[in-house]
Amino acid sequence: MHLTFRQLKVFEAVARHGSYTRAAEELHLSQPAVSMQIKQLEESAGLPLFEQLGKKIFLTMAGQEMHHYCRTIAQQVDEMDRVLEEMKGMKRGRLVIAVASTANYFAPRLLATFSQRHPQITISLDVTNREGLLDHLDTNDIDLVIMGRPPEGLDLVAEPFTANPLVVIAPPDHPLVAAGRVPLEWLQQETFVVRERGSGTRTAMERFFAEKKIRLSTGMEMSSNEAIKQAVQAGLGLGIVSIHTLELELETGRLAILDVDAFPILRHWYVVHRQGKRLSPVAQLFKEFVVAEARGLLLHPGEQV
Ligand code: PGA
Repeated sequence: MHLTFRQLKVFEAVARHGSYTRAAEELHLSQPAVSMQIKQLEESAGLPLFEQLGKKIFLTMAGQEMHHYCRTIAQQVDEMDRVLEEMKGMKRGRLVIAVASTANYFAPRLLATFSQRHPQITISLDVTNREGLLDHLDTNDIDLVIMGRPPEGLDLVAEPFTANPLVVIAPPDHPLVAAGRVPLEWLQQETFVVRERGSGTRTAMERFFAEKKIRLSTGMEMSSNEAIKQAVQAGLGLGIVSIHTLELELETGRLAILDVDAFPILRHWYVVHRQGKRLSPVAQLFKEFVVAEARGLLLHPGEQV
């Protein structure tokens, strides 16, 4: 059946008023234009939609059926209008973000504040390591990424929003905790538990020691910050992690930060997207929120290191 939305609007107005003349007035059309639209609609329906008894017009059975669907369609279109208006006003929509495994220690806090302010926005979050994030940026299947400094040479827009210091951790009874200031070379006597290849923490750590010409002996490799912290607590070696991962362990005294020369390794967190990407209003809003407010929301005494 071929019909147009305009014909349905005309039909709905005629049915509501029971009059071609009043429908024409409401729609700012001539009465013959209204009659023509109804005639065409009846032709495509293959059934009469109105019947005239005396001066009044009434819906036929087919007309009543069509009227029922018309009202549903009109309601849906109204709702669509409202939703699109709200999207323009940024109150509603879907935000898809991906964050580094390490950033997931603070991302939920940011998302909680953001979603309290914008409860109509639904958020989907993927947590992966740096390599996974670069894949997301490559396939362009997310709005925004939160990661350490992205590599040069990719067409990316990256805005820094807060510091990400990497520190050396040890169990509290480790001899280097009591030693006070630890010269960098002393670390060569220690074994390190390290993150998996593809992790930003691992890459930053390797670059740092290569620049300082320090050879570390690495023991076990683990694919999460939690595993590293557990291994260090269990005495399997020292670890290097972002201070963002340590809130609980520092509070409870289960791990200690060593005071090593040239530490912490100073990094930053960035909110990142592809150059030329058309950010949705919701993504734009989240990006502005992160850049303007994340630092204040995330700062705690440990971050002053
Ligand atoms: P990651 O952190 O070690 O969890 O990949 C990302 C980064 O620091 O760049």
